[in-house]
Amino acid sequence: MFKVKDLKFRYPKSDVCAVNGVDFEITDGEIFGFLGPSGAGKTTTQRLLIKLLKGYEGEVLYQGKPLTEYGDDFYQDIGVSFEMPISFSKLTALENLEFFKRLYKNTVDVEPLLKRVGLWEDRHKKAGEYSKGMKIRLNFVRALINKPKILFLDEPTNGIDPVNAQIMKDMIREFRDEGGTVFLTSHIMSDVDELCDRVAFIVNGKLQEEDTPRNLKLKYGKRIVKVEYRENGDLVTKEFSMEAIKEPEFHELLRTKDIETIHSGETTLQDIFIKVTGVALHG
Ligand SMILES: Nc1ncnc2c1ncn2[C@@H]1O[C@H](COP(=O)(O)OP(=O)(O)O)[C@@H](O)[C@H]1O
Ligand SMILES: [Mg+2]
Repeated sequence: MFKVKDLKFRYPKSDVCAVNGVDFEITDGEIFGFLGPSGAGKTTTQRLLIKLLKGYEGEVLYQGKPLTEYGDDFYQDIGVSFEMPISFSKLTALENLEFFKRLYKNTVDVEPLLKRVGLWEDRHKKAGEYSKGMKIRLNFVRALINKPKILFLDEPTNGIDPVNAQIMKDMIREFRDEGGTVFLTSHIMSDVDELCDRVAFIVNGKLQEEDTPRNLKLKYGKRIVKVEYRENGDLVTKEFSMEAIKEPEFHELLRTKDIETIHSGETTLQDIFIKVTGVALHG
């Protein structure tokens, strides 16, 4: 869907590149996550891909054609929900959506969407009187009104409560399951783990790692199994390599001891985040 080659961008008044030579691809039908610490260049990369920022170096292809060759038609294809809610504060939520609907050829019925995110009751409230969390949810609905092919979500669950975050995550997955493509950024690793088919870590404008969450966990984890059991009232912990679990000692232990926990040693995305970004930041 998107092919990005050696993308570089420097904000006009800055002397360092916010995005400093990144290569990646977003494949049709996947949820691709851009992870990294604050200031890493996540939002900037998204702004570049939606043509909000101009004057980059490198190449960005959307469906095989340079992004620069697209006109406003490009916006028919995309849905954008960024951290800063964009709505007219004097208009009601519904009026806002009606306004934006007029800009698009294909549109959806907003009622089910508003109901789903819990804003239907408040649809006649002025957007300016919405709480931060409500504005984010409204923004998310707005991103979906043109039946986009690709959704750009910048820290989508940041600033909303866990129940609404879960609803939003379900909706993002459903969007993908119905054939949509998603490019999201996040620093909330549990969300990323739940949602993303593939992730890339970005630090100081450069990509560090790119793979499926599963492969990263296998790569950074230890190939061990840890068993905890009671022996004469004491807690005993034993570690076995993945090879050693084929041996009689391990089976004997399972058969004869009162096992309390068994874990294999995959690491969490949180640990990988700290490892990958820590090394990149501090050498
Ligand atoms: N409008 C701007 N003008 C100048 N520098 C900016 C601007 N927006 C972001 N930056 C800088 O670019 C770098 C990347 O920022 P950003 O893409 O927002 O990071 P992230 O989204 O990963 O937190 C940071 O050093 C940030 O300070
Ligand atoms: Mg950001």
